[in-house]
Amino acid sequence: MNDSIYDMYQRPLRDLRISVIDRCNFRCTYCMPKEVFGDNYAFLPQSELLSYEEISRLVAIFSKLGVKKIRLTGGEPLLRKNLQELISQIHLVDGIEDVALTTNGLLLDQQAQALYDAGLRRLNISLDALDEELFGKMNGRGIAPARILQNIDYAKQLGFEIKVNMVVEKGVNEQEIIPMMNYFKDYDITLRFIEFMDVGNDNGWSYEKVVTKQEMLQQLQQIYTLTPVEQAYYGEVAKYYQYDQHKAKIGFITSVSESFCSTCTRLRLSSEGKLYTCLFAADGFDLRAMLRSGASDQELIEAISQVWQQRTDRYSDERTAYTAKHRKKVNMSYIGG
Ligand code: GTP
Ligand code: 5AD
Ligand code: SF4
Ligand code: SF4
Repeated sequence: MNDSIYDMYQRPLRDLRISVIDRCNFRCTYCMPKEVFGDNYAFLPQSELLSYEEISRLVAIFSKLGVKKIRLTGGEPLLRKNLQELISQIHLVDGIEDVALTTNGLLLDQQAQALYDAGLRRLNISLDALDEELFGKMNGRGIAPARILQNIDYAKQLGFEIKVNMVVEKGVNEQEIIPMMNYFKDYDITLRFIEFMDVGNDNGWSYEKVVTKQEMLQQLQQIYTLTPVEQAYYGEVAKYYQYDQHKAKIGFITSVSESFCSTCTRLRLSSEGKLYTCLFAADGFDLRAMLRSGASDQELIEAISQVWQQRTDRYSDERTAYTAKHRKKVNMSYIGG
């Protein structure tokens, strides 16, 4: 089969982002502020998480519905034990062309080799600043950028294709845009600048705290000549630019200033098996209940098809100061970005 299904705006289903755990070893201010995600925060117990067998079964079903790209996220996905086993299982599924992982990179020194051996080839690693004090503050745990940079080097030597994600927040780390560009320009690593988004209900977002793609480009173009790169495929999230004389690209993820909902092909699966049709959705559809009450593959296919076919989400097109503040949204760390 493997034919695509379409939502209410004729968008095909192509990608599945799977959160494997809602916990994280960082407390990034823009995602899991310490004041909210403190010692008493109720994370999901192990028994509530989908098992690797359950996830692999779902991946096979999603593949029948046209999904070709799988992205594993968290919280921090490397906190889930033996993640390489899940990667091996997903690679066995027919029709899946791309498997990638989004991580804060801290545990790569221990795990990158096993992930590579399991067949993983693509890593997106978050790093918001090179300044030690600032990065320590932003990650909420005093982790030094040198540790992440070392792990990036190590993963690159193993053969991973790597992108670095930098969330840019006005008044916090915009002065790091040029140093980050200077650092990564001579590596074969794509650096992406992400506009700060109003994910969840707790990250203190406002329009004033966003540095737009245009503002970032203006800064960068004072130093570099940047040429836009054509979109590689329908629904690509980032807009890429190439700088003269260098191999690497930079990208912008412009959910706020240039939303990309009209080509959004993504579903999201939470670690407890709820299916979300948008990063900014309030509620998800409970697939775990179906899995654990003996639903057949055909029943799951029908339920997922219905969820997608009824989808009308386009949050970033509709964002206002009011929705940012008052609309209930799932937490970023729960759904994995
Ligand atoms: P590739 O381009 O395949 O490497 O992955 P990606 O950029 O889709 O994944 P990644 O997890 O690295 O996400 C980068 C940033 O894009 C994160 O801040 C995500 O929250 C954001 N992002 C990804 N998909 C969407 C989306 O559908 N909507 C919005 N608003 N943001 C998204
Ligand atoms: N705005 C933009 N990007 C965010 N991320 C986490 N929270 C936000 C936010 N509020 C990014 C992380 C990671 C990716 C999964 O999402 O930095 O790179
Ligand atoms: Fe953890 Fe990533 Fe959220 Fe930071 S952005 S707290 S690393 S899940
Ligand atoms: Fe897709 Fe929602 Fe992001 Fe728009 S805001 S691109 S619909 S996930």
